[in-house]
Amino acid sequence: MTWTTYALGLLGPEPPTPLIDFPVAAPGVRLLLKDESRQPTRSLRHRHARALFRQAVAEGLITEGTTVVEATGGNAAVAQAWFARRLGLPYVVVMPGERTEARARPVEALGGECRFVTPPLAIYDAARALGGHFLDQFGRAAPHDLAAELFGQVRPDWVVTGAGTGATSAGLGAWAREHGLPCRVAVADPDNSAYFPGWTLDAADYATGMPSRIEGIGRPRVEPGFRFDLVDLVIPVPDAASVAAARRLREVTGLPVGASSGTALWAALELVERLRARGEGGTVVSLIGDAAERHLATCHDDAWAVAKGLDVDPHLGTLRERTAA
Ligand SMILES: Cc1ncc(COP(=O)(O)O)c(C=O)c1O
Repeated sequence: MTWTTYALGLLGPEPPTPLIDFPVAAPGVRLLLKDESRQPTRSLRHRHARALFRQAVAEGLITEGTTVVEATGGNAAVAQAWFARRLGLPYVVVMPGERTEARARPVEALGGECRFVTPPLAIYDAARALGGHFLDQFGRAAPHDLAAELFGQVRPDWVVTGAGTGATSAGLGAWAREHGLPCRVAVADPDNSAYFPGWTLDAADYATGMPSRIEGIGRPRVEPGFRFDLVDLVIPVPDAASVAAARRLREVTGLPVGASSGTALWAALELVERLRARGEGGTVVSLIGDAAERHLATCHDDAWAVAKGLDVDPHLGTLRERTAA
């Protein structure tokens, strides 16, 4: 067996993540959360990482002994380090800013190496300069298998996701269209992100130049992987509402989700509210992007929210009304 065949075998599909029934105060409407925190590295980025490795191995860009390189922080680095270890490959990630243990430790625990670089935008050039194979999650946005798995489990009327690279929304939209499903795809977009204004203006080169405060989603510019033609609706979500919804999600499920899961939940509840107001039933699926203890010190922490100027309580009131079983 060649190394490539062996590696592709290790990068095959994994067991499906579950759907969680979430309470909504809307008769005939079902809200399901696709729980990506049940991935082996506890986030949706696990699928991205597998897809990027598979693509690179299949194209011969990664072979036995190749050093794998990426420029990113957070969950993507953890998932990629996990796959690099599984394949026995060295992994180096360039992260923006100063070293923090919370970001470095999970990657180093998996045998990866972290380098920290300022200013934040210098991470891409720094990663390219390292040599090895640059995975380039934004440039490549390899299609992952969430859509096939999800539509095999349920046939919803709406699916709600955030957008970082754009791969998830594009994958869901492409799958639904190719298979003639009447499911529509909504992207939940946080403050400062270019996706909502870019989509409303049909401007693929739109840039806000401002970083998103919601980890994992929202971008200062429209990324090449975001496909306007495969998205039916983009819903802007204020950051305070994202944080409130992440807290409500934790209250109901016990999962210490990140704020991006709250962004998606808030937008999903907007869709549920529309259905309720029209007296319609239906099924809405929203994504849980990740869960991690480290989120307890950020979006689930009152002092953190106050320091960021986020007034969470009014949104929590709305959420409790909309999610009263
Ligand atoms: C809720 C949620 N949706 C979507 C994404 C990913 O979006 P994309 O595939 O555009 O990078 C994330 C982060 O990985 C997320 O947390």
